[in-house]
Amino acid sequence: MANLATTYMGLNIKSPLVIGSSGFTNSIEYIERLAKMGAGAIILKSLFEEQIMHETSFVLKQDTSANLYPEAEDYIRNYTQQNSVQQYLELIKEAKEKVDIPVIASINCNSASEWTSFAQSIESAGADGLELNIFVMPSDINRSSNENEQLYFDIVNKVRQQTKLPISVKLSYHFSSLASTLEKLSWTGIKSLTLFNRFFSPDIDINKLDVKPSFIFSTSEDIGTTLRWVALLSNRLRCELSASTGVHNGEGIIKQLLAGAQTVQVASILYKDGIDSVLSMLQTVNKWMDEKGFADIASFRGKLSVDKATNPGAYERVQFMKHFSGIE
Ligand SMILES: Cc1cc2nc3c(=O)[nH]c(=O)nc-3n(C[C@H](O)[C@H](O)[C@H](O)COP(=O)(O)O)c2cc1C
Repeated sequence: MANLATTYMGLNIKSPLVIGSSGFTNSIEYIERLAKMGAGAIILKSLFEEQIMHETSFVLKQDTSANLYPEAEDYIRNYTQQNSVQQYLELIKEAKEKVDIPVIASINCNSASEWTSFAQSIESAGADGLELNIFVMPSDINRSSNENEQLYFDIVNKVRQQTKLPISVKLSYHFSSLASTLEKLSWTGIKSLTLFNRFFSPDIDINKLDVKPSFIFSTSEDIGTTLRWVALLSNRLRCELSASTGVHNGEGIIKQLLAGAQTVQVASILYKDGIDSVLSMLQTVNKWMDEKGFADIASFRGKLSVDKATNPGAYERVQFMKHFSGIE
């Protein structure tokens, strides 16, 4: 059997398959089963900064920066009642007792406000790391891209003042200069960048004349964007890269590792094929490594990153011209 060990946020883990933050990582039963099947680490379902603010008596109304719609306030209050912050800390403690793989907490945030002090409680509860799922919607026409991007740095700096836990930042590719921003973020002391988050996109119900969410789950075709950016940036940043979005099988894990990812996260496929798919994905990676004669991940990780590939242009625009010019 090949050795699948690697690191995530600088922590030693036994396999590169990390369970992405999702409904499955909100339950001890699933966390235990996923760990038994060989997952390298678990990222718990995210707490929203609004939940923390609400429950820790930074009353919602005081948070003018959030600029919430009334419906959003109601939603947060209801959501908060069902998913208390205290329960989250209990989840961390219980998960740590039950599994011997790293348990990573996750916070969904878009401001560097008082909630950041909660990172201390997460550390005290025993989490091995903290993933910050940051998304600043660049929809305010009065805010420059610099102002929007600065928030990511402010959040990281504030959280790092509160905790010594290794930190990962999970973000989207919606930046005016993605490579440059990610490079700068990698120098802030974070241990990992998760490329990329996936968002609930809006759709319109033309019969009910209403807006509805759509496209909750990814498909395997969605892997391309992450693959490109992992390949472009691996070995060029100060921190590790964790690939997320569109990994639906063992082949997807292998591709991301070849592109240079240190770890690979999965979420949608667990809903689509069930959590046993973790076993088959790892079997595929093992079999492929044996067939190719790779004894460990380091033997092939990054072999097809931009700085090592024999055909690096395949990740850039030039391929676009070559590919589509022949199609009438
Ligand atoms: C049902 C569901 C719930 C999710 N909840 C969270 C969450 O709480 N926090 C988070 O950072 N990402 C969350 N995600 C995003 C996943 O962690 C992942 O980044 C995204 O789905 C892309 O990976 P995938 O293609 O393997 O699904 C969720 C995804 C799904 C499908």
